[in-house]
Amino acid sequence: MKFSVLKDGLSGTTADCLVIGAGIGSTGSVFSSLPDSLKKLITQAVEEKTFSGNFKEIRQLTVSERPGICRNILLVGTGKTGDTAGNFKIRGLIKAVFTHLKSQKFNRVTIALADFMFAADADTAAATFISEFGFQNYQYTRFKSKKDEAYEPEISFYSQEPLSETLLQRSIVAKEAVDFARNLQHTPGNLGNASYFADVAESLASRYEKLSVSIMGKEELLQENMNAYLAVCSGSANPPKMCVIRYNGAGSDEAPLAFVGKGLTFDSGGLSLKPAAGMDEMKYDKCGACVVIALMEAIARLDLKINVVGVAAFAENMPDAAAYRPGDLIVSRDGTTIEVMNTDAEGRLVLCDALSYTRDTFKPQAMIDLATLTGGCIIALGHIASGLISTDDVLARELLAAGDATGDPAWRLPLNEEYQELIDSKLADLSNSAGREASPVTAGAFLSRFTGNTPWAHLDIAGTAWNSRGYKYSTGRPLELLLRYVVTRTERKGA
Ligand code: BES
Ligand code: MN
Ligand code: ZN
Repeated sequence: MKFSVLKDGLSGTTADCLVIGAGIGSTGSVFSSLPDSLKKLITQAVEEKTFSGNFKEIRQLTVSERPGICRNILLVGTGKTGDTAGNFKIRGLIKAVFTHLKSQKFNRVTIALADFMFAADADTAAATFISEFGFQNYQYTRFKSKKDEAYEPEISFYSQEPLSETLLQRSIVAKEAVDFARNLQHTPGNLGNASYFADVAESLASRYEKLSVSIMGKEELLQENMNAYLAVCSGSANPPKMCVIRYNGAGSDEAPLAFVGKGLTFDSGGLSLKPAAGMDEMKYDKCGACVVIALMEAIARLDLKINVVGVAAFAENMPDAAAYRPGDLIVSRDGTTIEVMNTDAEGRLVLCDALSYTRDTFKPQAMIDLATLTGGCIIALGHIASGLISTDDVLARELLAAGDATGDPAWRLPLNEEYQELIDSKLADLSNSAGREASPVTAGAFLSRFTGNTPWAHLDIAGTAWNSRGYKYSTGRPLELLLRYVVTRTERKGA
């Protein structure tokens, strides 16, 4: 797919379809710039109520002769006027547009943004179109001998108010980063083990001057006393790799932002084995770490003037004679002792050591982890919002705002002191599982113990990182939320 800005007004379009929005009882705001033949069709559709303007309604109108601009108009219902649908809701509408364009195989499409701006501006509307079109058009075809024909339309945006070329390019970078994250995420567990992703991280770093990577294998993790991380891997034939990717965009004096991703290349549950049904989906338990890798590339491509460190913590959780067991006691990297109550609560064990390492080594100005951490988060929030837990109100607010702006929303869950008691252990400092009640919160409470005074936030992406209904696919979320957050932080410095 190619995206561009239409510069010379609607009369300059060579599209085979022009997409315009119109609310209930309205003909849309580009109506007056259209040739009479198209105006007539639209007026007729509105008067005869073959198009009523309801949200997500789609109606294609075609004239037999080329009326100066193009033969096909796609009328898209935008609902009640004054409706300020959020950027997440608008995705549903854009998806309907994309599905129609694809079914008609339109190869050149012009989108008039005026009626799709809702509460935002034209640049944001274009960004959401790019993101959602990209999302809908993505296919993972690596292992398909016969691939479906690709749909590669050229999309141009038309707006009366000027569109920023820089913001357009940024949206394209974000879209390609999401595609990259999804390619990594879909990699099956037999191919995509920790070493595979370590190679990916290394090749990435070799391509960008400001990126560097160091891979910590079993030896290095041992040297750092990362015993909780290592316990999780003890039953696997695939050795762990923690990829530490650094982006230097602001010199050495500035404390970095840090992102830490859970990268379970497969989570069988270990000896606390998961049920067979749906276990295949646990190849997606690496989604957080894959987003970290793709995020680092996007930051490098945008050449942002900020320092960032990305930690992608890859491991595999398997049952085996050498596996760790329920009842084990582990001394984690920072000395906190942990009683293992359930080997399926492995994500927090990998992350606790990765977090304390990141905190101590890089002294970040903020540290954000992203993890497919709890099934309970899917029960709480479904597949709409990621669960956010934070010890820092400012950081939490910034992340929520970035999520709303990009249509990649998060919702904050509490972290009251009372929840901390639920992870007490009789035999150790902490228990790795407090059972099902409030599991996304107790998991967050567990992680919070390893963050010290560093402003920290945790995104539980169990419900948003992939979709398990019908055809299973990963989403690349919350890449857009995080990229927006990094960009906003960079701009706020005046860089
Ligand atoms: N990776 C899973 C969480 C998960 C489950 C994500 C289902 C998406 C779908 C995680 O490692 C896990 O097993 N969590 C347990 C924790 C429990 C044992 C405290 C869970 O949520 O059931
Ligand atoms: Mn698990
Ligand atoms: Zn897991």
